Amino acid sequence: MLEKGNVIAIPTETVYGLAANALNADAVTQIFSIKNRPYFDPLIVHIPYIDDVYKYASLFHWKAQKLAKKFWPGPLTLILPKKNIIPDIVTSGLPYVGLRVPNHQKTLKILKKLDFPLAAPSANPFGYVSPTSAEHVAEQLGDKVSIIIDGGKCKIGVESTIVFFENPDEPAILRYGGISVEEIEKCIGKVKISIANSSKPQSPGMLDKHYSTLTPIKSIDEIEISKIDKTKSAVIVFDKYIEQIPYENQIILSEKSSLNEAASNLFEAMRKLDNGKFELLIYGNFPKQALGLAINDRLKRASG
Ligand code: TXA
Ligand code: MG
Repeated sequence: MLEKGNVIAIPTETVYGLAANALNADAVTQIFSIKNRPYFDPLIVHIPYIDDVYKYASLFHWKAQKLAKKFWPGPLTLILPKKNIIPDIVTSGLPYVGLRVPNHQKTLKILKKLDFPLAAPSANPFGYVSPTSAEHVAEQLGDKVSIIIDGGKCKIGVESTIVFFENPDEPAILRYGGISVEEIEKCIGKVKISIANSSKPQSPGMLDKHYSTLTPIKSIDEIEISKIDKTKSAVIVFDKYIEQIPYENQIILSEKSSLNEAASNLFEAMRKLDNGKFELLIYGNFPKQALGLAINDRLKRASG
């Protein structure tokens, strides 16, 4: 299917991806139409080996190499100056390409068999919550893709951390994700934080409203608990219930207070509560460190 230029869904350790031959502009166009994704939002290119970077990027700065050696295969995307072999549609016309070696045995096996890399965004309709199981993909895109490779539940559960090497002396984090800022700085020293918002659209596609449920979702800090209809409200919390709301309407992401476990359960919990039974979804506070930054980022964008 991939060799013929078709799109299939693949598992990764972060979220499921909608994959096609990254070197074939027609195949990549299909990804955009299946997802209903705007063309200004560039795709990440997935490769099986670190050395493949040299095929698609014109510069592999030593700091980027250090990160790749430390974290690949894994939830890290490096944005590097691109070579012409990568079609413009993949990068939305930008002179940079996002590269990543995913950490999933089934997908690595596929990548190693192909003689081209795979462009793959998350396998959800544009703007909705990313899928962390094959079932999630089937529910929303089952009639649009003919193959979904079932690789089980995604272990990390939030997308990759994106590091931009526009200025190699000062690499910039464009998206919080599965590798924490602390881990990255331990490896290459201080980095700049350039998380996009409407006033600073650094990373194309990083819209304020994203990863969103159909049911409105708000931070606990934005609402007055005494004023809401508690039977029509559901809650996502880190490790403790919110006293004033029925416990059966609440999902705890990690009883043992692990941010990694919470991240891996986040998108599934959002989908579960987005079932039409509730008028409002509320999220509690998560520690502002390690994967807590990625969790807070996704919830904040979901609330738009
Ligand atoms: O974990 C992940 O990264 C997952 C799995 C499937 O690998 N993929 C993923 O892709 O999250 P997607 O399309 O949902 O998010 C890709 C984002 C874009 O929205 C954009 O912000 C950034 O990556 N990006 C990709 N290529 C870029 C480029 N050339 N320059 C700047 N940003 C880029
Ligand atoms: Mg996405």
